[in-house]
Amino acid sequence: SNNIVVAIDGYSSCGKSTIAKALAKELQFIYVDSGAMYRAVALYFIRHNIDLQDHAQVANALHNIHLNFKTHNHKTFITLNEEDVSEEIRQMHVAEKVSAVAAIKEVRTAMVRQQQRLGRSKNIIMDGRDIGTVVFPDAQVKLFMTADPKVRAERRYKELLPTNPDITLEEVFDNLAHRDYQDTTREESPLTRAEDAIILDNTDLSQDEQLMFALSHIEPFI
Ligand code: C5P
Repeated sequence: SNNIVVAIDGYSSCGKSTIAKALAKELQFIYVDSGAMYRAVALYFIRHNIDLQDHAQVANALHNIHLNFKTHNHKTFITLNEEDVSEEIRQMHVAEKVSAVAAIKEVRTAMVRQQQRLGRSKNIIMDGRDIGTVVFPDAQVKLFMTADPKVRAERRYKELLPTNPDITLEEVFDNLAHRDYQDTTREESPLTRAEDAIILDNTDLSQDEQLMFALSHIEPFI
């Protein structure tokens, strides 16, 4: 197939989804937020009290989870068994659990299979932790994003504050640090830069500068 795949990986709250969405809009590509899939699985596990150590329970839960992306008025939603969970998966109770859920081999196998299916015939931009290394090792363009941890925590804090007035910057900082630690040290497809990924440190870059940088690497393939 000759469709174009852009893989964006990096640490938590680096602005991966912001740039991915802007690129998708600019290029008319499909954007897939792979983190939303792990978050939706984590939400299901929380609601159903799934014991992460119990393989049979995990396998059974995965069997009962049906995820879909839907677009409405140019906004993308993720549904968990037909329920729109786009808002709830952003909340802290999910953020606290998601990395442990995403470390489970069976969970990753199921998600990677769905992600690969989404990118089989269409031009897509997918962001996550293992997109350039595991999901699409042959992606034409791979970006690896980083930013100063304090800057990242401040950005995420500002996003969460309107719906979580009691949240503290410290809590958000700790959650990001904890997730980065779990994501980089886990056994199954840990977060790491693919050898052929281009590093994009956006600590001091504007949205436009990031977009221009990324576009300059994608345009040769269009
Ligand atoms: O991208 P986001 O921060 O929403 O991802 C939430 C969590 O999902 C990450 O911290 C990571 O544990 C997991 N994840 C993953 N692999 C991906 C995308 C997300 O393990 N491709």
